[in-house]
Amino acid sequence: MFSQKLIQKLKSAKSVSVLTGAGISAESGVPTFRGQEGLWKKFKPEELATFEAFIRNPELVWEWYNYRRKLILEVQPNPGHYALVELENLFSNFTLITQNVDNLHRRAGSRNVVELHGNIERNYCIKCGKRYDDVDFAIELKSPRCDCGGLIRPDVVWFGELLPLDAWEKAEEAASSCDVFFSIGTSGVVYPAASLPQIAKRNGAYTVEINIERTDLSWFMDEVIIGKSGEVLPELVEKLKEAFEEK
Ligand code: OAD
Repeated sequence: MFSQKLIQKLKSAKSVSVLTGAGISAESGVPTFRGQEGLWKKFKPEELATFEAFIRNPELVWEWYNYRRKLILEVQPNPGHYALVELENLFSNFTLITQNVDNLHRRAGSRNVVELHGNIERNYCIKCGKRYDDVDFAIELKSPRCDCGGLIRPDVVWFGELLPLDAWEKAEEAASSCDVFFSIGTSGVVYPAASLPQIAKRNGAYTVEINIERTDLSWFMDEVIIGKSGEVLPELVEKLKEAFEEK
């Protein structure tokens, strides 16, 4: 499944960066956004994932986030998440950039995580900035109102919003300075996240995609591995450990 070239590249790599999308959490039971069973087939992004929608109907948007918060709290990280923790342990310079807001990478034990689209467990008041980071408390709230009267919003990036600047800077730096870059379980259609694999490639990284199907990014990847991340990643880690022992 893995080329000798990839194993060699990883053996000599000083720095490895990974971009993940909803597909890495699919085997945990978290729905992806696109595809037949995707969230955006059943729900309209413009009614639920924009600032305008939130101002128009905060209760509806809050209810939708509570549905997703509850779902996420009931599921567990899968072998793909855990394999990325092991991968991090093999390299001194490792960055895990995720578009996911589900917190599953951190729950699995990943340390150097850059959350490009925020985190569904965190919230803040748009008026006074007070933080509401207790997810159980958030789930209890039917109407997202702060003590100051302002609206409490999830700390996630909605359509039309800029990414958190510090997260983007870290992600761009990790993509442009790594030796091997993985794009895992993302359709690669949402920018600027989707530009990271190209930034990595332009700066000389060996780029690898892991997905159950080809994506908009596949054409320029050095290697495309078709398979479930929860199966491919543990195998890759095993292969790599063997290769490191041979050193
Ligand atoms: P998508 O739903 O667009 O894509 C999920 C990808 O995962 C698809 O390419 C699937 O083929 C792949 N996939 C599904 N199951 C898999 C598995 N078991 N192993 C490997 N791959 C699998 O999700 P994202 O690319 O993450 O943005 O979407 C990007 C952004 O669009 C999200 O962060 C969200 C959404 O709107 C915001 O909320 C700002």
